[in-house]
Amino acid sequence: MVAIILAAGKGTRMKSNLPKALHPICGKPLTRYVIDACRESGIEECIVVIGHGAEEVQAALGNDVKYAVQQEQRGTGDACRAALGLLDGCEGSVMVLAGDVPLLDPAALRELAEEQAASGMAATMLTTVLPDGGHYGRVIRAADDTVEKIVEAKDATPSELAVGEINAAIYCFNLPLLRKYIDELTPANAQGEYYLTDVIGLMVADGHKVGAKISADPNIVLGVNNRVDLSYLTDVVRRKILDRLMLSGITVIDPSTTYVDEDVEVGMDTVLHPMTVLEKGCKIGKNCTIGPSSRLAGAVVEDGAAVLFSNVVESTGGEGCKIGPFAHIRPGCTLGKNVKLGNFVEAKNSEIEESVSVGHLSYIGDTRIGRRTNIGAGTITCNYDGYKKHHTEIGQDAFVGSNNTLVAPVKVGDGSLTAAGSVITRDVPADSLAIARSEEVIKIGWARRRREQKDTQ
Ligand code: UD1
Ligand code: CA
Repeated sequence: MVAIILAAGKGTRMKSNLPKALHPICGKPLTRYVIDACRESGIEECIVVIGHGAEEVQAALGNDVKYAVQQEQRGTGDACRAALGLLDGCEGSVMVLAGDVPLLDPAALRELAEEQAASGMAATMLTTVLPDGGHYGRVIRAADDTVEKIVEAKDATPSELAVGEINAAIYCFNLPLLRKYIDELTPANAQGEYYLTDVIGLMVADGHKVGAKISADPNIVLGVNNRVDLSYLTDVVRRKILDRLMLSGITVIDPSTTYVDEDVEVGMDTVLHPMTVLEKGCKIGKNCTIGPSSRLAGAVVEDGAAVLFSNVVESTGGEGCKIGPFAHIRPGCTLGKNVKLGNFVEAKNSEIEESVSVGHLSYIGDTRIGRRTNIGAGTITCNYDGYKKHHTEIGQDAFVGSNNTLVAPVKVGDGSLTAAGSVITRDVPADSLAIARSEEVIKIGWARRRREQKDTQ
């Protein structure tokens, strides 16, 4: 079985510079959902029809499908015809789907294909019944309950508009008949387009039969035409993802404020607290505590990690690491086992080995910190001289005092100690003490004398 997926349209109603096909739902482009549903249903080959933003769409959707280009967007019928060129010489049936109907159910697609094969009809479609059909095409049935035609909302009479059964743009066609009637389409309608839906009416008018199966679940056939539709389906997908996680042993304290992208993996007994956002590419281990109020994107944290009120991007955290509250972990950080990055710590492009503690108010950039080293509160690595980024190397079992300024490139050796308030500009050899601050001067009795002087004035 082959599927043609129509995704050449601009998506005018989205009012966006991004082609509609690429608008993401839970981190995955709309049309990629359609492709994945086809794959899961056993359809071997997908032909995606692209046009508006073709290059961008093709790059984002991947190369496990074939592409046909519709040069000018002249309607769904014209788009489908653009794909038929790739099926020359093929017979049998073809599935035709819209790239903006993302929640297709693979089982429903399989059943549709089976029904089409068993009935021998010219086409079989999947429809649903809505309380208000809105902008969807209406399915007009003949006396024998087969489909007579589809009428677009813009072309419908009031009595046709009152029909609750809508066209979901999920069709299984007899391929030779589709080829024949698609050439007979004309743009004589309200939108001046070649409607794929008119193929159905042409087939029936010529004595062929078209069947329709009604889906009991309207969500699986709903389309995205504007951002209200997008948010509605995003919510459906979001709840599905959370249900799947909860059923696999993850506690989601407040599903209404938890956002997890489609490809995210979470291990058993992890607890997701309110206001947690896990974006594309996250892998969370077992027994972790994430949130409240944390956003992780492309982040991997291993078993037992805790992230509290923090932002973690494209970085990894080892077993038992503790991040936050209020930490900002920017791309390129690797935190070893049991690392602690505490409150108001920012880190970027740094390798922080196991059991290191950066407890409070620090900036760690382009740095490597060896095992068990403690970084005192308020320590800053000065990695940028206004032109270039420089590296800081801090050895293992070192102790960097509070409020240090490490001017990169600079090294602090294994087992060394730097005094609080130091500005370190030269390398500190292993096991040494570096004090880089002005010496304290004490004037005994000075304060009392000043007080007495002021009091007598
Ligand atoms: C279409 C159906 C409508 C159905 C609805 C279901 C037609 C004429 N109408 O309407 O009966 O109820 O889907 O969601 O088919 N596309 C192209 N090239 C074009 C035009 C569209 O590739 O020239 C693609 C779009 O990118 C989109 C899909 O076809 O993915 C559907 O097009 P859209 O304009 O959204 O059709 P609807 O108005 O939703
Ligand atoms: Ca649509």
